[in-house]
Order: sequence, then structure tokens, then C-alpha cells
Amino acid sequence: MGIFYQEKERIFTLQTAHTTYQMKVDDFGFLLHLYYGKKVCGNMDYLLTYYDRGFSGNPADAGSDRTYSLDALPQEYPAMGTGDYRSSAIVIRNADGSECCDLRYVFHVIKKGKYELKGFPAVFADEEEAETLEIFLEDKVSKVVVQLLYGVLEKEDIITRSVKIYNHGTSEIIVEKAASACLDFVSGAYDLLSFYGRHAMERNLRRVEIGHGSYVIGSRRGTSSHQYNPAVILAEKNTTEDTGNCYGMVFVYSGNFLSEAEKDQYGQIRVMMGLQSDCFHYPLGKDESLVVPETILSFSDKGFGDLSRKYHHCIREHICRGKYSRQIRPVLINSWEAAYFDFNGETICKLAEEAAELGIDMVVMDDGWFGKRDDDNSGLGDWQVNEKKLGCSLGELIQRVNHAGVKFGIWIEPEMISEDSELYREHPDWAMQIPGRAPNRSRNQLVLDFSRAEVRDYIFDRICSVLDQGNIEYVKWDMNRSLADIYSREQCQGKVTYDYVLGVYDFLEKLMQKYPDILIEGCSGGGGRFDAGMLYYTPQIWCSDNTDAIDRVQIQYGTSFFYPVSAVGAHVSAVPNHQTGRSVSLHTRGVVAMAGTFGYELDPSKLSREEKEEIREQIRQYKQYAALIQNGNYYRLSNPSEESYAAWMFVSEDGEEALLNVVMLKTHGNMTVDYVKLKGLMPDAVYEVTAEYGDSACGKVIAENGNAAGCEAGTDNGNIAAGRCYYGSALMEAGLPMPVRMKEYPAYQIAFKKV
Ligand code: GLA
Repeated sequence: MGIFYQEKERIFTLQTAHTTYQMKVDDFGFLLHLYYGKKVCGNMDYLLTYYDRGFSGNPADAGSDRTYSLDALPQEYPAMGTGDYRSSAIVIRNADGSECCDLRYVFHVIKKGKYELKGFPAVFADEEEAETLEIFLEDKVSKVVVQLLYGVLEKEDIITRSVKIYNHGTSEIIVEKAASACLDFVSGAYDLLSFYGRHAMERNLRRVEIGHGSYVIGSRRGTSSHQYNPAVILAEKNTTEDTGNCYGMVFVYSGNFLSEAEKDQYGQIRVMMGLQSDCFHYPLGKDESLVVPETILSFSDKGFGDLSRKYHHCIREHICRGKYSRQIRPVLINSWEAAYFDFNGETICKLAEEAAELGIDMVVMDDGWFGKRDDDNSGLGDWQVNEKKLGCSLGELIQRVNHAGVKFGIWIEPEMISEDSELYREHPDWAMQIPGRAPNRSRNQLVLDFSRAEVRDYIFDRICSVLDQGNIEYVKWDMNRSLADIYSREQCQGKVTYDYVLGVYDFLEKLMQKYPDILIEGCSGGGGRFDAGMLYYTPQIWCSDNTDAIDRVQIQYGTSFFYPVSAVGAHVSAVPNHQTGRSVSLHTRGVVAMAGTFGYELDPSKLSREEKEEIREQIRQYKQYAALIQNGNYYRLSNPSEESYAAWMFVSEDGEEALLNVVMLKTHGNMTVDYVKLKGLMPDAVYEVTAEYGDSACGKVIAENGNAAGCEAGTDNGNIAAGRCYYGSALMEAGLPMPVRMKEYPAYQIAFKKV
């Protein structure tokens, strides 16, 4: 059992395998946060201190007691207008215009199983895997009720938090701000780790000290965004990859979000995750309610690596759904970087034939197959197959592709509309724009108002009529701009961005239910909507439009802090790379793409015979390790933006097998040797190198004195060779010396098996 309530002390304790979370209803009915962290015993209310503090006022209930102030006490769900001047988890504007919500405990319920949030993505679990605590708080004056929901997944060390806000009063209120999780810490110095970026360069790690003031990240783009990922880590000062205390907060939502970290006047820290308050003014009439999407909390006392693995496991097993969530994904080839808009049916069939020869499982026909769509200026919304361009019907094309021995997948972008489209000419009012104002264009397209059911239903029918035309086994769901001109003809404007996301979820849910055998990959200009919310519907997401292997190691490094490898869409593309102009060997590109769902994004007809042979070998190799890669434990072995190499490894659950991956990032004259330390092995076990994959076009090994000493394939510089055995402890404590090569960006993959 993970949830305990002590009646007399009114203390709630949530226990997971290695963590404790505690809160208390105090004498005035306020719900105070007591503790979250490494497992502890006993009641933690002794941590609460009471002093008369200047300019931190006292609630009326405290009478003449000046030592009781909500401005200083740690709170579970702090509300605006109660004398706590720190940032609030909830801001309610009452009918009289006042902003106040005085939340007091009313009752609670403990249930078996994990609560669900209808219409929202959320962690799911069996009855035996989870418990739920619901605490009801009420503002007696406005009759606003707040239901705090806690899901406890004991074995996973996961606690989820969500909130429902009800208006049981008679007049309309406006929810101006709502978080789903708040963590107050009465002591300690902390850093915040967040992940910033831009299109084609997503999820770069930033670690900052939380000093006095606030540190805020979020999105106002309508999607979770390329710019900030909706997930943060709070870490003690000395926490590293492998040691120290850290907390994660992952928002299960794909729209506007806000995460704040604040150090108050007394040196206490508050961290929150929830809905963005800008562009959000959600009216609640009598008996209406609002759901604040879920935040997944976790804690580790063993550093970021352990915390990440908890999230990987939770997302893989309790967020990703459907037939493909645990299946090895098909190796696919996508037409985008192979042909962009310049293709016809023959091109796709040719791609299929080449794919079959290379051992690729699936061809994906990307953007350009519908309406008038020979570039990105027109056609969105017209989901009719352009048979003239293809030279055949979609059904015929799919048959030909299947006949070649490969599966068929297709690209869609349902949320968008081009002004130059039949749909826009018929329904200009379906595009989001503010009456009387010219809209913002982005990629020359507008956004369909997915908060409106009639708009969604129409597009859903159109998409289904395409999917019904043949044996389509994969859909890439794209979304290529940020929302602007927030306005809906049918809606109260303060709800639009929220209802838009719910509309997207509704559409995706229907699509999943109707086509359970289709694998859906999410995408938003690459990784612009890479979040746990989308992963509930699409078990993989195109990680970035940047396919350059060297940039990718950094993007995939940041992504790995929360999201499992099975969620990361990664492909080998052509060189010079289309986004950076950089040339990296096919081998290195393969090693990097294998830290994801693996596939190709190039025109095989432009490859040499040797390259094709190498790709065949690459795919054989990938398939050999696919289960270990997708379901194994993931270890980061370096920070590629700080170290001279990028390294990561996969270790099977039972510790029997491991695959080490290293990409060398620096080359210098008289190069020094990098020793890569492995992780996750059994220290006392002996591991044998079962295979080592270096570069066939390897570059020369530099021997002593800088003399070139020949060029052989593989990593073999005498230190690492197939058949050699090492103790796990040796590999982890002393590491492996990486070969020094006369070449830029060589990469190595070394497979180990316990003997
Ligand atoms: C986005 C995607 C790409 C590709 C193009 C097509 O940029 O991220 O992978 O599908 O759209 O227009």
C-alpha cells in the first residue's frame, strides 16, 4: 500500500519504493506540504516553524497569533489572495472581480488503481500497480472546490498530480492560472535543469542556480514548443549524473505551459508545473469544472541517470499505449529528405524497391501527395489524393509498395490550412484569425480551429477516407507552425488554446481507436511537440528536423533526460547534411540513429554499391540489438556539449547484455586518448566483447609519435577486440581507451555479453 492517512494528526503519507511524500491538514484546514524526497520514517511536521515575521501577514483564523503566516509556510496548493506573496498555483477571479481563493480541507478519498482524466493523456496503471488519493479543498465564500489528485505508482517511484477545479457557486468565476503540481522546500540550495532550444536544435540542457527571484520557462505557442520542453529537474547543488538528490516534473500536456522556480525571502524554494497563465482566462459557470493536466513527479538520490531511467520506464510502460508501444518498430525510409515535394508514384515505388533490397521494412510518403501541394505554400486542408501527381490511385500505389515487400506509411498535417486551398475558399472562418485583423502566417499556413468539433469532424472524415484507401500501416502526424491570432468564433476566447489541445487529443484518440493497427509518429517541425502528452497517442515522435549526426547527439542527449529511446524518431540522412552541410561517415550516422526508432531519410539511388552494402549490414546489426536498444536501460556516459566525445549505452534489464556507443567529437594533432567509463554492468561479472563495429572507411589509427599505423576496420587498437573479456568493475571504474583515428567524428559500437 502506498497511501496512508493518520486520522488524528491529519497527515497524508505517500510511499513509493524509495521515496516519501507527506502533507498535513493543519488546525485551520490549510493543506501544508511537509516533505518529498528519499524514503523517511515518521511524521515530518516537526519541520514546520512559526515566527513572527514582518510583512508576512496572518490569516484571520490565527487571531492574535502573529507567528502563523501562509507567506512562510510550505503549501501543497498555494492560492492567490491568501497572504502568500510567492507565485500561486491557482489564481481565481471571482464574480466581484476580486482575486482570492481561500482553500481549506473538506474531505479525502483513497482508492485502488490510478485515477483517469477523461479526454486527457495521463499515466495509466492496473489496480494492483497504483493507488489514488483525492483531497477536496473548498473556498467557503465562492464555493470553489479544488480536487487534488495523486496517483502513486509504488514500484516505479512515480507520483502523479493533477487538479480539478469546480465552481459550485452561483456566479461565474474565471480561472486565471492553474498548476497541477507545486513543490515547496523549506530548506536547501537547488539548481534547476531545463531544456531550451529552437527549430532544428531542440532540448539543450541548461542548469541554473535558483537564486532569489524567479526562474520561469514555458510556452505561449499553442504547442509545448521547440523552445522549452515541458519538463524540469530540481537538483541539489552537488548532484551529478550518478550521485545526489534530484526531482523531476514532467507535464503530460502538449500545449501552453508554465514552469516556475522561485527562492523566497526566507531562502525557501517553490517549483511549479502547470498551464500557462498568459492567453488563459478560463470561465467556469455554475457547476462547471476544469481539469489541469497531469504532472509526473519522481525523485532519485542517485543522480540524473537514475531519475531518467525512472521516467523512461514510466513513459514506456504507463504512458505509451497501443499495439506498438512495446513492439520493435519498423525500420522505415521517409521520402522527405529523399525527394521533398518532387516525387510521383514511380518515385515512391522505386524507393520501395530499393528499401526492400536494403532490408528496410517500410516506405513513408511524406508531404506532397494531396491537393495542390508541390511546395509548402498551398494545399493544406485538401486531403484528397493527387492521383495526377502520383500517376495512380493511392490504393494502387500501396499495392505496388506492398508487392515490393515493404509496408506503406503516409504523412498528414490535419491541424493546418493553406489560404490557397479549396477548404479555405469554402470555410475561411475555420482558420484561426481575429476578425478585422490580418493573420500571422508561418510557413505560409494558418491553423484550423481544432477547438471546434465541426472542424475536427470534417478533417477526421477526410483523413479516414484517405486511410481507408489501402493497407496503410503508419501515419506521421505533423504540425508545422505555432498558434497566433488566438480567436475562435464559437468560443470564449480565454479557453481557446486549452480547448485546441483537447481537440487534438480527441482527434488522435478517435484515430487510435479506429485504426489500432496503424503506428502513429508525432512530429511538429521535428521536435516542437515532443512531450509526454503526445506520447500517450503516438508512441514515437520525430525528434528533430535536424538529422545531422553531430547535432543530433546533443539533441538526443537532452531528449534522453525524460523520454525513452523507443519514443525518439531518428534517421540516417544523406551527406553533406541538408541542415548543416556537414559530412559524417555512414557508420557514425548509423550509430547515432540507432539511439532512436531507426530509419533512413535519403535517396538510395544516389548511393554507391559499397554504401548500400553498408546499409544492409547496418540494418542487420540494428535488428540484432533492437530489443536491447528499445527496452534496455539507457545510460548517458558523457555530456556531448562539454566532453570530447558523446557516449551512451544500453544494458538489458538482467545485466547480461550491453551495447556501448561512442562518437568522437574532437580531433587534434597528437590527439590525447579518451577513456570511456561504462555504467550499469554487474561489477563482479566478466563481460566479453561479442562484436565491435567501427568505421569501414575508418581513417588511419595513429600510432605512437603520430605516425599513421595502417587502416583497419573496427575499433581494434589492441585494447578492444572481439573475444576480449573484462570485469564489469574494470569497465566501469577505469573505462575503455577509445582508438585515436586520423578522421573526423569516428564512432564505435561495442557489444558485450556476460560470460
Ligand atoms: C516538417 C517535418 C518534416 C517533413 C516536413 C514536410 O518540417 O518535421 O519531417 O515532414 O514537415 O513538410
